[in-house]
Amino acid sequence: MKARALAVYPGSFDPFTNGHLDVVERALGIFDRVIVAVLANPDKRAPLFTVEERMGMIGQALEGQERVEVDSFRGLTVDYARSRGAHTLVKGLRAYSDFDAELQQALMNRKLAPDVHTIFLMSSFAHIFVSSSILKDIASHGRDVSEFVPPVVAQRLKEKFS
Ligand code: PNS
Repeated sequence: MKARALAVYPGSFDPFTNGHLDVVERALGIFDRVIVAVLANPDKRAPLFTVEERMGMIGQALEGQERVEVDSFRGLTVDYARSRGAHTLVKGLRAYSDFDAELQQALMNRKLAPDVHTIFLMSSFAHIFVSSSILKDIASHGRDVSEFVPPVVAQRLKEKFS
């Protein structure tokens, strides 16, 4: 298999949303294999879910997708990608507001590893306003977010905030 047939989709995924799912499904239309890579060394913000919990939920949400692997990583994304033999990072883009931060990361990643390319997949319109942090906020106030996340994530959010 050519190295370009493999892509890494990195993120915090705290938790995994239908927007993330949409990006994975689109990436599978382009790449033979996709690694969903959960960042295991978040900086200041304490995550709501542990890395193991996040990986478990992603695994369940993607059950049956044989071309997807769920993994975690520490350190720099480009180093992780190289260690897996991947030359492509996949990122999702929602609205224009994502652009600045994503451009900064993509250009810095290119500087760090010129052989690793970033491609952006546009969210579908239905997911433009879906973000993990907004959903956590809504769920923390007891409201139902099952419209925006895979069933397993909706269940875990309910348990966390019950
Ligand atoms: O889901 P997120 O929080 O938008 O994902 C951001 C992530 C994990 C892709 C980004 O923070 C990242 O790549 N972190 C790893 C550290 C790193 O490589 N930093 C340099 C990027 S310029």
